[in-house]
Amino acid sequence: MRKKVVAGNWKMNTTPAEGVELLKGVAALKGDVCSCVNFIVIPPFTHLSEIVKNAKGTGIAVGAQNCAAEAKGAYTGEVSAKMIASLGVEYVILGHSERREYYGETSATLNKKMVQAYENNLIPIYCVGEKLEERENGKYFDVVRAQIEEVVFNLTPEQFSKLIIAYEPVWAIGTGKTATAEQAQEIHAFIRKVLAEKFGDAAANTVILYGGSCKPSNAAELFAKEDVDGGLIGGAALVASDFIGIGKGF
Ligand code: G3P
Repeated sequence: MRKKVVAGNWKMNTTPAEGVELLKGVAALKGDVCSCVNFIVIPPFTHLSEIVKNAKGTGIAVGAQNCAAEAKGAYTGEVSAKMIASLGVEYVILGHSERREYYGETSATLNKKMVQAYENNLIPIYCVGEKLEERENGKYFDVVRAQIEEVVFNLTPEQFSKLIIAYEPVWAIGTGKTATAEQAQEIHAFIRKVLAEKFGDAAANTVILYGGSCKPSNAAELFAKEDVDGGLIGGAALVASDFIGIGKGF
């Protein structure tokens, strides 16, 4: 039985004080959702310390949106995995399409970030997904396979056993256009098949989240699919009742 996960990527939104209020709102409503759902909030770096403190005892886990590819040193503006982990943060998003597109993150960079994450006991939430033209010209299986082979295939079986994958089609992110439940299931099953080529039966236990305009009104249909184990939520994670509404999709 795989874990059910609803993770909220706040991206570059909220002040630290607003973030704490948002967390409190989620915590206050969490009792309405099946206790089988694991909630993770993923605020900006500046919020992490306060959010970790306020999340204690709520059952809500905390993640970071990124980490540096290097361990430490002269890398102005970067935040290391060790710094993040020292706050009590448990997860880190790696390879989000916004990082790939706006900050030039390649598989080479992401391999280094993976090393840093695992060395510091952060669980990576590794994002994959195709752009609109790649969906339209039928290349999406190749794109997603490459994103997995070039990074995930470098993990040890032990590292792989902890990994979470998020499939986020770029054309569905922040656009209001969601993949249909059938489209999500098709590619999630494909991802699991590719993972099994390298890691065998362990792939049956990998949590694979869907991300891209997921909201309370479409969560249940998406989460009902066999290989969809939850969601990585952007916009709807910024409103406590919507984020909780998505959790009710289970
Ligand atoms: O990481 C979450 C994400 O990119 C989806 O964003 O706003 O479409 O839910 P959104």
